[in-house]
Amino acid sequence: KAAAETLVLFGATGDLAQRMLLPSLCALDADGLLHEQLRIVCTARSEMDDAAFRNLAREAIGKFLPEPRRGDVEAFLGRLTYQALDATTPEGYHALADKVRQDGNGDVAIFLSTAPSLFEATIKGLADCGLNGNGARIGLEKPLGHDLASSRDINDAVAAAFPEERVFRIDHYLGKETVQNLIALRFGNIMFEPLWNAQHIEHVQITVGETVGLESRAEFYDQTGALRDMVQNHMLQLLALVAMELPVTFDAGAVRDEKVKVLRALRPVAAGESVTGQYRGGASSGKIVPGYDEELGKDSDTETFVAIKAHVDNWRWKGVPFYLRTGKRMPERVTEIVIQFRPVPHSIFAGAKLKANRLVIGIQPEEDVTLTLMAKVPGLGQGMALREIPLDISMPDALSGLERRMAYERLLLDLIHGDQTLFVRRDEVEAQWAWIDRIRSRWHEEGLTPKTYSAGNWGPSAAIALAERDGVSWHE
Ligand code: BG6
Repeated sequence: KAAAETLVLFGATGDLAQRMLLPSLCALDADGLLHEQLRIVCTARSEMDDAAFRNLAREAIGKFLPEPRRGDVEAFLGRLTYQALDATTPEGYHALADKVRQDGNGDVAIFLSTAPSLFEATIKGLADCGLNGNGARIGLEKPLGHDLASSRDINDAVAAAFPEERVFRIDHYLGKETVQNLIALRFGNIMFEPLWNAQHIEHVQITVGETVGLESRAEFYDQTGALRDMVQNHMLQLLALVAMELPVTFDAGAVRDEKVKVLRALRPVAAGESVTGQYRGGASSGKIVPGYDEELGKDSDTETFVAIKAHVDNWRWKGVPFYLRTGKRMPERVTEIVIQFRPVPHSIFAGAKLKANRLVIGIQPEEDVTLTLMAKVPGLGQGMALREIPLDISMPDALSGLERRMAYERLLLDLIHGDQTLFVRRDEVEAQWAWIDRIRSRWHEEGLTPKTYSAGNWGPSAAIALAERDGVSWHE
């Protein structure tokens, strides 16, 4: 596919663009990864000229991109132009189209990092002025709706203007190097795959803990909650990558075919298999922080924590629970996947306690892969004393000297080049929502409201009980 000649960024003055998108593009440019002709047309509602927007971008890069990665910032800023646009009225789109065509007639890549409530109007505006023509592709930032019905509405509106091969739905977790490494570990080595099934794996844990609270998006978060903010997208993508069958090739069609099969095989969550929580004030990361209601300024039933015991109903995963948990104001920021293997079927070491092997894949902030093994304790005592030891690989050490890229660097580059492998296909998003909607309606039917937990803890005690009932403890 031809690389896009113009990148159009909607929501260019917004938080994501300032913190991630512009710094990522600048970093790509610094490494010579943006082709020479690429122009970046930035749009947002505020009136300003190119110079004023470049100042804003310069500031954002100064703040959010470490100095050694910046390269020639002025040369990068020279690629940027600005067009004020009210997404809900048609006029702006024609001015935008003129600007884009001024720069040439090559393919256009469009990235919508605006409120999803503007998606439908924006797509219509783009279609009306013909900016969806030729090889134009469109990137959509999450959230893609708030349930299956609303996500279908968005997807239908998108489909009316852009064929699916040109729709790039973002889940920024797929842009993380460490998440891609999961695929490399599973399918680039022979030793995991034969053991990667119900016969050898007892359970899987996926944790995404965050120490932050509401940050600056109280209203959005309160309407969303942890289930829709984190589980529907990031955690289900991680689960799909852990559970999927071997794709025939590493390309968009094959990888996404395998992921969607997993998402469709998710069993509806039964009563008692999910726990929700909301944080109260407490000590978190060394300081005293207010509770959710206080931060929000009103009472609310929105969950800031969720734990779920999930099941993938297929041959490979029969009877293997997937314990998922995510929350705000957890004791630490950590994303990790734990593969708990089964014990050896029979121990020949009388008296020695054998612990089953465990593989822990650290996604962030530590990128390490740890496999626990049983080893002989040195010494001359009678019999054999064994102890669990870690085989620990720190990815930054093992791959030292190689730059870890921000998720959006990968994703923006792939959008520009038209590679969909790390983007979410319509059927995936809809399978994700279908599963999430059933969980929410169950909560509703059961009148389930979040249990409280003090900030700085791993959720309410019921979340610990959810795993402990099965004799499982959450990995610390
Ligand atoms: C976003 C959520 O999608 O992911 C945020 O909306 C969350 O609430 C963020 O904080 C976490 O991303 P990361 O990359 O910091 O793990």
